[in-house]
Parts: sequence; C-alpha cells; structure tokens
Amino acid sequence: MKKDFLRVLDLTDKELVRLLDLADTWKKRGSGPRLPTPLKGKTLAMVFQKASTRTRVSFEVGMARLGGHALFLSPQDTQIGRGEPIKDTARVLGRYSDAIMVRTFGHALVEEMALHARVPVINGLTDDHHPCQILADLQTARERGKNLRKMTVGFIGDGNNVANSWVEAAHLLGFGLRVACPKGFEPNSGIMAEAEKTGRGDVRIVRDPAEAADGADLLYTDVWTSMGQEAEQKRRLKAFKGFCIDSALMSAAKKNAIVMHCLPAHRGEEITDDVIEGPQSAVFDEAENRLYAQMAILDTLIPH
Ligand code: CP
Ligand code: NVA
Repeated sequence: MKKDFLRVLDLTDKELVRLLDLADTWKKRGSGPRLPTPLKGKTLAMVFQKASTRTRVSFEVGMARLGGHALFLSPQDTQIGRGEPIKDTARVLGRYSDAIMVRTFGHALVEEMALHARVPVINGLTDDHHPCQILADLQTARERGKNLRKMTVGFIGDGNNVANSWVEAAHLLGFGLRVACPKGFEPNSGIMAEAEKTGRGDVRIVRDPAEAADGADLLYTDVWTSMGQEAEQKRRLKAFKGFCIDSALMSAAKKNAIVMHCLPAHRGEEITDDVIEGPQSAVFDEAENRLYAQMAILDTLIPH
C-alpha cells in the first residue's frame, strides 16, 4: 500500500478488495471490551475545514475501537486558520500523531500535506475526491450481493467529488458506471481520463436519468449543491430538475436493485423520501459501514 490514501486510484484492485475484507472483519467483531486493539497508544489528527457528521464521528469512534485516540482540529482554533503554511502544519502534526485525516476544499492541499507529513495522510473529502465514502459504498454493495466486478451502477446527479471517486472505482474494479448529469456538471475530465488508463471499467456520461437507471444494479446520488458551492444553489436547483431518484426511476432499475446516497440528503431534491425510506434503500447500512471501512484503512495504514 502507498503511504497515503488520497484517492481511490492510490489502491490497486487487490488492495481495495483486501480493505473491504478487513472492513467486513471489523464489522463482524462489533464493539466491546474483547475487541482487539491494534492501535493502542496511536493518535489520529483530524483536520476539518468543512462540516461533517459521518466522517468525523466514524473516524473518531473507529480510532477508539482500535484502541487509539483521535483529535478534532478545526481551522478556527488552530494556526491553519491564521495562515500557517500547510507544509509546516503537516510536519508538526506528523511528529505528534500517527496519521492525519484531512477534509478540505482544494485537493492540492491534501497532496501537500502528504508530501510533507512523515505519517499517512487520509483524504476525508476534497472538492475532487471522497475515497473513504466509496470504500463504504463498495462494502455495502458487496454485502447486498452485488458483484463488484460485474455490476452496473447508475449515478444520477452532480458529477462532483463522490462521482469522481465512483469513476475511479469503476475503472479499478471493472464495473459499469453510467453518470446521468446535466451539461456542465460532468465528473472531472482529468480524473476521467486518468482513470480510463486503467482501462477496465465501462464509464459513460448520459443526459437522461432513465438511461442511467435502466437495468442498473445500484442507483446512487449525492447532493446537488456541495459544500463550498452554496452561492450556486439557485442555479443548481434549476439545472438538476428531473434528476431526482424517485420511485418511477427506481422501477427502471433491476428488480433487486439497491439505492444509495452518501448523505446528508435533501429529500425532494436529489432523492424522494419514499425511496430513501423504502425497501431498496441501503443508505443507513452505507452510513454505518463508513465506520468499518475506515477502521480497515486505519488498521492498514498506521504501522503497528
Ligand atoms: N457522507 C459524508 O461524508 O458525510 P459527512 O459530510 O457527514 O461526513
Ligand atoms: N458532494 C458532497 C458530499 C458530502 C458528503 C459535498 O462535497 O458536500
């Protein structure tokens, strides 16, 4: 494994599957005093420049279950917010802690952190990637019986960080991915081109959500206005009209299809309430699996 986990393509397909197996193992173990504690005495520094519920709590709980400790660092309360260079912050945090998790805006910041920190750096979401999310998504798809090398995923909505990470996963594992999005909201073209070099997936951009849903094993969506894009909300609401996963779209997918959403969700926008609460929804298992997927990452990346 590489030292850092900044994007899905930092993994080989075998490493990815090994992480999913380990995530399943941690899930089976549950919690309690008899849990093994491989990260006893280890510390994770968590830098959050954007809000979070799942990522923050699952990393913190994950470190505690592994026997370690996590520190929550917000820019307002640290020198990061006052302009201390990232390379200095990276070097200092790397001398106190055993790994650093960062959630931020530009992806270049996590790359700079990784370059200068002597400990593993984990991407907890940037404007371009959300690799930890995709690990939990794949774990969830697999436990719901989907074949990760053969499935077809219909991603309906914004081609943002989460969609970019799905593109990478599709090419790494070789599954089919159809992204239905309005013009101008496609996944990042540079990331698409890089991922395509691995050459295994069948990734297509379509304009009609029904075309992406048709016969799919899994439908997926994300918010239309991501963190940092709040000023564009009105324009986005208009652009994404018709890109909502509702029961009609669900019925275009396979009968046993599941639906997932990274959360937080805006019911009535990208997904309807009846779909997210319905029998095909795997959304809350998916959120739970963030914990186990991240325990697998921490257990693997932090030397012990
Ligand atoms: N899905 C996800 O990353 O959720 P949070 O923003 O709550 O961490
Ligand atoms: N695309 C969303 C994902 C939130 C987990 C965002 O960046 O806000």
